Amino acid sequence: MTACACACAWADEAPIGVFDSGLGGLTVLERLLDVDQVNNATGLYGPDGVPDLSRERFVYLGDQANMPYGDYAAEGKSDYLRELVLKDAKFLLATNYYRTAEERTPSGCKPRAKIIVIACNTATAWGPDDVRKYLASIGDGTKVVGVIEAGVRATLDQVGAKADSAPFAVGVMATPGTIASGAYERTIRAELKARGVKADVRVIGQGCAGLADAIECGSPAADAIAKSNLVALVERHRASAPSVPIKAVILGCTHFPFVQDTLNRAVAELRAKGAPLAADFRFVDPAFYTAAECHRLLRETGRLSTSAKPDASLAFLSVADPSLPSECLTADGQLTRAFKYGRNTGSCAVTTKPVPFTRERFGDDVFRNVGRLLPRTASLLSR
Ligand code: DGL
Repeated sequence: MTACACACAWADEAPIGVFDSGLGGLTVLERLLDVDQVNNATGLYGPDGVPDLSRERFVYLGDQANMPYGDYAAEGKSDYLRELVLKDAKFLLATNYYRTAEERTPSGCKPRAKIIVIACNTATAWGPDDVRKYLASIGDGTKVVGVIEAGVRATLDQVGAKADSAPFAVGVMATPGTIASGAYERTIRAELKARGVKADVRVIGQGCAGLADAIECGSPAADAIAKSNLVALVERHRASAPSVPIKAVILGCTHFPFVQDTLNRAVAELRAKGAPLAADFRFVDPAFYTAAECHRLLRETGRLSTSAKPDASLAFLSVADPSLPSECLTADGQLTRAFKYGRNTGSCAVTTKPVPFTRERFGDDVFRNVGRLLPRTASLLSR
């Protein structure tokens, strides 16, 4: 991805802003790059082999220095997380950036995003109202898209939830913070009501402690953590309602598609042990519906690009400010856990800075996985 020479004016050629706490949001970026539901020439619904957002460019932010977002609620810091989410959105809307972690004043220049995609379930669980309020105060009509409503609509569409559906269960694997927020269960209940579904629908939330973090740093423990959480979810349900089939498990954390193969194998093993999984059981990744929603909003507001190209896209990852006192930093320059979760809202102190993405920020295994699972994104990041 290249750096932009100057800020571009507010226009439909402005980029789509996407953020996550780390690399998980790349699974959403991939869908933004390949969603194809519309014929681009006629504007009519129906795929035409050309991605709907192929003329768009993107600005991606991974707030890696402040992750895991999923741990702030348990540390009693969900207000601090909300502040981080708003900062992420403001970064995408800003026209400058720090070229290096050492810079005191941001001297880099970038275009302002024309729409904000919150490609992080935990951020969507806690922060979208603050982002919406901020955007309303600017008053230029910039929209925000989150992943949770998209995930719920995708799930209920895919399981074919209807007014007369028989009882069924839906699992949600997410960070502990997303589960603690209750956002998925609330959204599922609201959507069931809106669709007039009368059936007894069980929602089984599983807070997967440590999983996003393990995936982010390429830890070999990630597969075992993923499997044990899926097994725990299914067995908890089997103990309470063995005759109600689980029709779907929502991958309610953008990092989790990276362990999809492991989860598929675990499903086969659970089936062999008679677990209550529906014959047409599926995992649901909210990313596709999120991308479709982003396209719909841009189209409805007349903000689709006509000429921009993805190779003018930019990516940033946050890093700890190296000028922080040494007791706040680990030996490899990251925020210590105590400092990270000890910070309070309302401070203007700079503790982390988004800086341009460089390939070295991900380990080799992690980057290989990005290449294998997210080819369009990997090619964008390699430019
Ligand atoms: N990828 C994020 C999500 O979708 C969260 C990971 C984290 O805990 O930072 O929830």
